[in-house]
Order: sequence, then C-alpha cells, then structure tokens
Amino acid sequence: MGSVATSGQEIVLPRHVAVIMDGNGRWARERGLDRVEGHREGRYAARRFVRAARERGIEVVSLYAFSTENWSRPESEVEALMGLIETALLAELEELCERGARLRVSGRREELPAPLRSALATAEQATAENDGLVLNLCVNYGGQVELVDAAKKIASKVVAGGLDVEDVTPEVFAQHLYVPDIPPVDLLIRPGGDLRVSNFLLWQIAYAEFYSMAEYWPDFQPEHLDRAIEDYSRRQRRFGGLALDE
Ligand code: IPE
Ligand code: IPE
Ligand code: MG
Repeated sequence: MGSVATSGQEIVLPRHVAVIMDGNGRWARERGLDRVEGHREGRYAARRFVRAARERGIEVVSLYAFSTENWSRPESEVEALMGLIETALLAELEELCERGARLRVSGRREELPAPLRSALATAEQATAENDGLVLNLCVNYGGQVELVDAAKKIASKVVAGGLDVEDVTPEVFAQHLYVPDIPPVDLLIRPGGDLRVSNFLLWQIAYAEFYSMAEYWPDFQPEHLDRAIEDYSRRQRRFGGLALDE
C-alpha cells in the first residue's frame, strides 16, 4: 500500500478503487436534456477518473458501467448505453495502450450485443500484455450473478471429480470470480448521493471503505478522487480486529 505525506496528513493510497458511476440521468434532467445526454457526458468523467487514478499510482479501478438490473430500463436507453460503452472503449483504446493499462471485463458478456462483445475482446487482447493500471470494466455485471456463476463453476469441478467439497475455501471460491487475480476493493466511491451498493462487487467489497459524494458522475473531477483518498486515509480499517491502541 502506497503512502505519501502531503500538507501534514499522511496519504494512504488505496490499491483498488471501485466506482458506481451514478447520477447521469439526474444530471441530464436538471439541464432539460434527455437521460442519454447524461450517459454521453459520463464517458468523459470516466476518462478523467481513469487518468487521475493512474497518475496517482492506483493499481486497479473497477467501473460499474451497466448492471444486470439495468436491462429493465426503456429499450432506447439500454441501446444507447450499449452503443456508448462500445464507442467509448474503442476511442480510449489508443491511450490505454500508450499508458500500459490493461482492460479486464466483469459481467455476463454472452448476453451483450455482438458489436460490444467484439469491442471488449479487441480491447482485452490489445492490452493483455500491459502491466500498468488494471481497468476492470463491469458490464452486464451483477454481484449476485457473479457469485452464482462462481458457484456453478465450482459445482461442475466437484461433479467432474476435479475438486473436493472440503477444499472449497474462501480463497478457492475467489479464484472462480470473473477476474480472480485482482486485490479486493479498498475504496468504493458512489457519486449521486445514494447510500447503497446496487449489487456491485458483493464479494470484493467485503471490507471496502465506502465514500458517497453528492455530485453527479458527469461532474466528477480529479479533485473528487483526491478528497475521497484523503477521507480514506483517515479511516481506521480494523478488518474485525482491534485498533492499534486498544
Ligand atoms: C448511472 O446513471 C448510469 C447507469 C446506470 C448505466 P443513472 O442513469 O442511474 O442516473 P440516475 O441515477 O438516474 O441519475
Ligand atoms: C447502479 O446504478 C448501476 C450503475 C451505475 C451501472 P443504478 O442507478 O442502476 O442503481 P439504483 O437503481 O439506483 O440502485
Ligand atoms: Mg442511478
């Protein structure tokens, strides 16, 4: 874990920062615009966030782009979101490659439209050898479904005789998540003011520090990340144990 002292306060750098990119619709409505305009603008917030995270030395970022529950929105909004995720990913690919970032994907991709699936595969392949920032893009992602999918993979191994039920530990379980080789979430940021998890990374956030901010996602600026990190640095993480002075 990185640690830098600035202006008297010790800054503790989280290794993995996850963001629930929320508030696009409200941002648009407040401006008399269609909700989709908010999603369009949210794309630039995502770019600012990823750049800022990389510059600060964060190892992994997880971005919640589309949840398994978001299919219940009007078809036109769902279609626009799918198109935007695809376009944004392909447009950002050159910079991701230049900066040595690696794209990982979490979610049930088989249910996504073919052009988006192919953009995800292109970006994964193009960045597979990079060892810089890991960008875990969560599309058609649901925490519950991820756990179900992991349980299914484990059950199949047990049935095939490749794994003993007694050997299913939390460590073994975690190896069956969508992207098993990334550290747990240290800091979970939710713009838009809501205080809920909305089915995001349920396993990985077990001991994450939660940071809610009132600003909507399209208004996200690098300073917000700095504020979140400063706040995180003041938290006392106990992981079920006792504080150092107790
Ligand atoms: C988050 O913004 C983006 C997605 C869920 C895809 P919303 O569209 O949920 O924005 P609000 O919460 O309605 O403002
Ligand atoms: C969570 O936001 C999903 C994403 C940001 C992709 P939602 O707007 O879908 O969550 P709820 O409906 O407020 O819980
Ligand atoms: Mg929302």
